[in-house]
Amino acid sequence: MGVIASQPSLVPSARAGEDAAPGPIVPPIAPPCEPGEDALSVLLALVRPDLEACNRAIVARMDSPVRLIPQLAAHLVAAGGKRLRPMLTLACARLCGYPPEADGLRHVNLAACVEFIHTATLLHDDVVDESRLRRGLASANAVFGNKASVLVGDFLFARAFQLMVEDGSLRVLAILSQAAATIAEGEVLQLATQNDLATPEDRYLDVIRGKTAALFAAACQVGAVVAGRPEPEEIALAGFGMNLGIAFQLVDDALDYAADQARLGKTVGDDFREGKVTLPVLLAHAAGDAEERAFWRRTIEASEQTDADLETALGLMARHGAIAATLARAAGYAAAARGALDVFPDTPLRRALAAVCDYTVQRGR
Ligand code: IPE
Ligand code: IPE
Ligand code: MG
Ligand code: MG
Repeated sequence: MGVIASQPSLVPSARAGEDAAPGPIVPPIAPPCEPGEDALSVLLALVRPDLEACNRAIVARMDSPVRLIPQLAAHLVAAGGKRLRPMLTLACARLCGYPPEADGLRHVNLAACVEFIHTATLLHDDVVDESRLRRGLASANAVFGNKASVLVGDFLFARAFQLMVEDGSLRVLAILSQAAATIAEGEVLQLATQNDLATPEDRYLDVIRGKTAALFAAACQVGAVVAGRPEPEEIALAGFGMNLGIAFQLVDDALDYAADQARLGKTVGDDFREGKVTLPVLLAHAAGDAEERAFWRRTIEASEQTDADLETALGLMARHGAIAATLARAAGYAAAARGALDVFPDTPLRRALAAVCDYTVQRGR
């Protein structure tokens, strides 16, 4: 599986109880992947100075006199992450011609804001999902506990809102605050579908649109807003991000069953153990015979699982091509994302954004 392993450290990792280093630590930027390894490196090469500035903003803004906050936040930030969403904000702003003068930094601060929203949701998500591994390291909840993770997640959300207010655009505030609300709705809707094999595919799509794609869409759309571009370009970039985000989560849901854990940097099988009703499960269940359906009812609906069940689940998915079908579905959304870029002139940036669509699908293969 062509997935990205955990990234080189951006800031030194901190453990509970250790003293935080005095003041914010400005990290050297780490590329999200080896040059040429995949399409993200093409995008990175085009936005590198902006992303370096964004990483500095992230480190500066996660500082607090309450030491546990930078300690816990640094633990997650130090573990890397692909910085995909902030790169999208930066690239979309540049695609739209921002900044017109050399002094523009709005896109950098908004990219940091987008990554803060993402990081906050990861902290909360790992508590809700009881995940123990994130970005190749013990998750923040595993190291610092659930309470600290939830509270620092709240802090990072609040920081994100401060960055929006500093930006000063009510349009930006409307887009990003709507995305923050939509993510929460998506996560709550997911809770409501948990353990329910009767979940229609449309409802599953609502979940992933909400919890993941809405932030991709907003991250891209604000790029057009800061550049002052007309509404059709805003809509095109929102559509690009929405379709890309759906593809990204479909692939993530396939990888949760089919990835190599060390390369994924997250625990394979978390979704199964949680009884999450994702597309690979829905497809395998729908195609299964009576005995197979009984297996899914026991493991997903009744949450009665043995250690061997994950392997069995994978076998059933393979029998019915459920992982391949999920990836094919993702490829369809990635193609739609690529098509949304057609309104922009064919430039290296547009090509790099189109290549991110391919990357998103390829990481599942
Ligand atoms: C993880 O997103 C959460 C999902 C939407 C699946 P990423 O895979 O972009 O996480 P990082 O930031 O690179 O760790
Ligand atoms: C994405 O869903 C969660 C967020 C949008 C925060 P997942 O629960 O599948 O994400 P991972 O797999 O834990 O990264
Ligand atoms: Mg999760
Ligand atoms: Mg997942």
